[in-house]
Amino acid sequence: MVAAVVSIQTTNSQETLIIQRPNNGLSLKGNISIPGDKSISHRALMLGAIAEGQTNIQGLLLGEDPHSTARCFSLLGANISQLNTELVEVHGVGIDNLTEPSRVLDCGNSGTTMRLMLGILASHPEHFFTVTGDSSLVQRPMSRVIQPLTQMGSQIWGRKGNSLAPLAIQGQKLRPIHYHSPIASAQVKSCILFAGLMTEGKTTVTEPALSRDHSERMLKAFGAEIQVDPETNSVTVTGPTKLKGQDVVVPGDISSAAFWLVAAAIVPGSELVIENVGVNPTRTGILEVLEIMEADIIQENQRIVAGEPVADLRVRYSPLKACEISGSIIPRLIDEIPILAVAAMFAEGTTVIRDAAELRVKESDRLAVMATQLQKLGARVTELPDGLEITGGVSITGTDVETDGDHRIAMSLAIAALNATGTTNINQAEVASISYPNFAQTLQEICT
Ligand code: S3P
Repeated sequence: MVAAVVSIQTTNSQETLIIQRPNNGLSLKGNISIPGDKSISHRALMLGAIAEGQTNIQGLLLGEDPHSTARCFSLLGANISQLNTELVEVHGVGIDNLTEPSRVLDCGNSGTTMRLMLGILASHPEHFFTVTGDSSLVQRPMSRVIQPLTQMGSQIWGRKGNSLAPLAIQGQKLRPIHYHSPIASAQVKSCILFAGLMTEGKTTVTEPALSRDHSERMLKAFGAEIQVDPETNSVTVTGPTKLKGQDVVVPGDISSAAFWLVAAAIVPGSELVIENVGVNPTRTGILEVLEIMEADIIQENQRIVAGEPVADLRVRYSPLKACEISGSIIPRLIDEIPILAVAAMFAEGTTVIRDAAELRVKESDRLAVMATQLQKLGARVTELPDGLEITGGVSITGTDVETDGDHRIAMSLAIAALNATGTTNINQAEVASISYPNFAQTLQEICT
């Protein structure tokens, strides 16, 4: 282990992650177990909280986002044991039995908490709820869920014409709708399906391209009546329905694995095995793109765990080729675009990423922030209205870079820094713990 490669400097609770590349280079070696899937962790906590009986969750992500979900649903009456990866017990209140909290429900940095929870709150008659989030979340668009919920008859108020948090919700008995979503968003789809649980009749969501389907899978497992039509990308829930507590095993998050996949693919001499990675086909766009880029990745030990496909991923360094990333694959790798931009920096040719304007309304404007920060390192990156254009093969030099408070930016910059000469200081890198609490320690362990 080369301890000097990765270090952390803490000033006033802000961490700077320092990556210092030795003159004789470095490589990455080892087996990595990654944190639980963030999307599945949120859903397991939420459905457990509104189910009847007990839900046992193994492998929950211990990042800050699931903590936000657990805090909100505890205030709504669920009894949730302390969060740990071994076992989290959720004693649900039952779908029509939430408590009206006397306090504001604080979703922190988590868009998934706010958007999915809104579907549950809006369909809970005679209760009044208030919801807010941190400085990033209160700038993120909520009209994408408020609009369909309003069509269902809900009453929601918020800033800027009822489009931004803080929000106030007067729960109502809702009516079913068939919503044709203008965007492929699992958060929008899940919000409406969750509202449909309490609503009499068939609530359907059709999306322009398939987004992650963890809600559909988990709702089915909890006993809801769910119909999926893959030909039209439609899902229907028939309500009202009760949910029954379940045992949930959360696989490792492919969005976290993505940092190691790219790291080993771009750092010469590397070989990593990433264990227990969820490889649900609605999430594996990153594997398909890296294969087109000629990365050397093998899926080993493929299995199904609690209804989700899982595998170990072996990745070895190999020279990458540029490619185009656009169209219907985008929702299947939406959170991996920042790290794919890093892969493109070290690929031969020009990679073009398009149809990804959604990145502008994530935890930060990921297109603008990635373009600016990678340019600081010397990369040839052009920001497009809906994507990025990156020309690879340019040597990069360590410097000070900023995360803009965005966990995925922090980790993407750390991986880029592995191939930068000299020292890179990634400021405000503590935000990685939103989805990956031990990211820096793992990086330290695999640097040889
Ligand atoms: C998520 C869906 C995605 C993703 C987010 C988590 C989810 O957002 O970016 O990190 O758990 O449903 P959109 O569905 O809005 O694209």
